[in-house]
Amino acid sequence: MISQTVCPPAPLDPAAVAQALRPFGESRMLPRAAYVDQAVFEWEKQHMFGGGWLFAGRSDQVASPGDMRAEPFGTGSVLLTRDEGGVLHAFANTCRHRGHELLPCGASAQHKVIICPYHAWTYGLNGDLRAAAGFKNRPGFATAEWGLHELPVTEWHGLVFVDESGQAGPLADCLGNLEEHVAPYEMERLVVAGQHDYDSAANWKILTENYHECYHCPSIHPQLCKVSPPRSGKNYAAPGIWVGGWMDLRDGMATMSLDGSSSGVPLRGLDATGLRTVIYIGVFPNLLLSLHPDYVMMHKMIPLAPNRTKIECTWSFAPESLAKQGFDPGYAIEFWDITNRQDWQACESVQRGLSSPHAVPGPLSLEEDAVYQFVTMVARGYQGERAWTMGIPEPAR
Ligand code: FES
Ligand SMILES: [Fe+2]
Repeated sequence: MISQTVCPPAPLDPAAVAQALRPFGESRMLPRAAYVDQAVFEWEKQHMFGGGWLFAGRSDQVASPGDMRAEPFGTGSVLLTRDEGGVLHAFANTCRHRGHELLPCGASAQHKVIICPYHAWTYGLNGDLRAAAGFKNRPGFATAEWGLHELPVTEWHGLVFVDESGQAGPLADCLGNLEEHVAPYEMERLVVAGQHDYDSAANWKILTENYHECYHCPSIHPQLCKVSPPRSGKNYAAPGIWVGGWMDLRDGMATMSLDGSSSGVPLRGLDATGLRTVIYIGVFPNLLLSLHPDYVMMHKMIPLAPNRTKIECTWSFAPESLAKQGFDPGYAIEFWDITNRQDWQACESVQRGLSSPHAVPGPLSLEEDAVYQFVTMVARGYQGERAWTMGIPEPAR
């Protein structure tokens, strides 16, 4: 059962937002303020990055009992723990005493309990308060009332999602039919063999919009166009909090790499179509999943400012690939590192261009239908609808 809770609208001109929601072919991009304005950014952090399910981390980062990790989340951070029974928990990363972070954001630890670094209040891995110096037998202090604030958490194919609002409903309902596209890749058994962290001087939506179209590929991605025809593929109808589609590999190309060859082995669950295509999925609002015949690339976006986004990019491979003699993940990492940097450069130029007071929202080409889907989701969110309760319409083609 999905909640219908409505949040306050974003501090934007409603008429400009409505322009983005006109039918595909007539619509305009989001208002300029959506990319440059601090107040809009703060609204997004609260209502888009803290208003429902958010990709918080990977299961392998909290794999064993006692593992804990803090990740940026909404307007604050979230503490993930794996308890003695193997159950994953998510808590607001704030001590119940006077609010100190329990673990620095971005840090990992291994311990039997959670100890606040400030005055050493101690919690179990399940969030129960176990010890608070000087509070024992203090009248009116009931230990049971001072456990950590727990948030709904779900693992999905090795990815950890947390719902800060507690109102988004089951993740599976929010993801709609994404499961059928993603399941064959068995991401839960893949192993991360490379990571690049980027700091891009662009708004997170500019990065997402760029990800969802290949209209720009002939201009800026010569390496990509060599292995994948930029006008190939189609976008999915995406009921749920995601947008995406697929593209073909050229004949003779096994995967996305500089020469089209793979150093690994194909993922065992893929059919003939999966072996000849690359699927590009954006799970709202912070996860980009690129599913290749032999590896999965993930971008996790962490918005730092209206014009700045941290991007954690990882490459995951099947255990069979890692076990292969002479395997080197560089073929995938190098290709996408070049392509990522081409993209960030373009996005940063868009950000600078949109700083001009003369920038007005432009129209979308027919090749930008997935951008339209994403913009629709954002614009409806700006109007006060929670993204996690939307049914996203199929774009007219
Ligand atoms: S703030 Fe955590 S023990 Fe005081
Ligand atoms: Fe690109």
